[in-house]
Amino acid sequence: MRIERYFDDLAQQAIESALGVKAPAILKPTQDAKHGDYQVNGAMALAKQRKENPRDLAGKIAAELVKHPAVAGAEVAGPGFVNLRLNDAWIGAELAKNLDDPRDGVPSVEKAERIVVDYSSPNIAKQMHVGHLRSTILGHALVSMLRFVGHHVIGDNHIGDWGTQFGLLIAGLRTFRGGDPAGLDIAGLEAVYKQASKRAEEDPSFADAARAELAKLQSGDAESRALWQQFVDITRAELDKIYARMGVTFDEWLGESFYDPMLPRVIEAVTAANLAREDQGALCIFFHEWAESGAPAPGRLAKQKEPFIVRKKDGAFLYSTTDIATVMHRHEVLHASRAIYVVDVRQALHFEQLFAVAARLGFAMRLEHVGFGTVLDESGKPLKTREGKAITLASLLDEAEARALEVMKNEKVVDLPEDELVRVARAVGIGAVKYADLRQNRLSDYQFDFAKLIEFRGNSGPYMQYAAARVGSIFRKGEIDEAGFRVPEVHLEAPEEKALARTLLKFADVVHTAAETCQPHLLTDHLFALARDYSGFFEACPVLKSEGTTRTSRLALCALTGRQLRRGLVLLGIEPVERM
Ligand code: ARG
Repeated sequence: MRIERYFDDLAQQAIESALGVKAPAILKPTQDAKHGDYQVNGAMALAKQRKENPRDLAGKIAAELVKHPAVAGAEVAGPGFVNLRLNDAWIGAELAKNLDDPRDGVPSVEKAERIVVDYSSPNIAKQMHVGHLRSTILGHALVSMLRFVGHHVIGDNHIGDWGTQFGLLIAGLRTFRGGDPAGLDIAGLEAVYKQASKRAEEDPSFADAARAELAKLQSGDAESRALWQQFVDITRAELDKIYARMGVTFDEWLGESFYDPMLPRVIEAVTAANLAREDQGALCIFFHEWAESGAPAPGRLAKQKEPFIVRKKDGAFLYSTTDIATVMHRHEVLHASRAIYVVDVRQALHFEQLFAVAARLGFAMRLEHVGFGTVLDESGKPLKTREGKAITLASLLDEAEARALEVMKNEKVVDLPEDELVRVARAVGIGAVKYADLRQNRLSDYQFDFAKLIEFRGNSGPYMQYAAARVGSIFRKGEIDEAGFRVPEVHLEAPEEKALARTLLKFADVVHTAAETCQPHLLTDHLFALARDYSGFFEACPVLKSEGTTRTSRLALCALTGRQLRRGLVLLGIEPVERM
């Protein structure tokens, strides 16, 4: 169960019974465990309203609260809050229930939504780089968390497979490669593209040729379309390899090209709604002009002089046009009530503009830009190779795996045959990269540091995998079936047991909050706290050597810890390993 909700409800009921009013309980975890587990702060606001003494009101609320079997103590403190201490026997019974629950005590949402998560979304004929790494890792974690809490989630890879770059690519291919993409891989395509953009800058007739190629492709010319398809296939093959390595999947691959047939409708819609006007031949949306029509644009858009261009002078459509079509499709065809865009914060303005347009077009949908910061190198600059090129994702994953193997061999934390070691090192290397990303507050930039990433201590992926494996080893050593382990009650005596139990109890709230607010780092924080409390418990409390209900209770704490660590890792898209 969601423990904070439960006690919040309980405190509200206590307020109602004690004072005869419905009022918010304002429940918060206490800063210091000495003062109990939760603080109920509602009495203060109520006292102000009723012009009564806050400590008197708090006293009446506390007297109601202690009647409940889940509450061991409720004391008035400070100017009028109530410090609440949970009953250990009640906690033990709750934990025993979680042990018997295939969802580890995490309930499903009351109202399931249909949610599209738009993530990864790299561009055709370009290698995925570190920037797409964050979107891929974050998006994949969000999909699994939102799905686990009960939503209907559609993960969509909105690949950039349409637009000006294809005119350049086709023109380049004809000029430099005799028009045949056979034998080219993604790096080859990228090279053709770069050569072509350079040539287009120097040579206006080449730029014209590229534009003509683009027009031909967009008008549906069969030969151009076949070339385009080859670019897509080459890229797709490479992307599939990377996603397979990372264990990332999608439900849809609706790239920009998919929306091409809808673009005239977008123009009709924005024109009919009076949102756009011509400016120097282009069709533009000027947000600062919205106020004149009585519907001011939200936030900074009201002052935004730069237009959102939906059709260029030459008739070409843009990223913005496609994204409006994407909202239409997600609403009308996928019946989504919510869409989450996992894209670099540097595109924040684009999404503010898009969402404002969608609102004016009347799409009743919750649209969210889940932005993220830049990955930096050790010196604080955006991560690049030594030659100054953007690091490819493939090379980054190679290095992570190699380093994981090296560390595992050096630290001798593992005792595995060589082939198994290589397999585990892969899971550890990839897991480390993912964890390092997810543990950050996503909006901040973060420094990518291979050495810290692969450490088997601290708030790192390898450490969480290690902690989970260590729990499993207790059951192996004691020859006890871990998965089937059940107890009627968990007895909590030692302070380390009580501390661990309280952390375990928070899991359901953490998972829900992390999913709802799109903040996977709340989940990594929980796993870290759990691993730390488990260590404390494990040092102070012998498990296999103890007896009776002490032994079964301790084993229950171990089993629950193992399950939360593994479930947490899986929700983050990280593979737990059995032994390491
Ligand atoms: N392809 C874009 C890029 O690499 C990201 C697309 C994000 N999704 C969207 N619906 N705009 O920057």
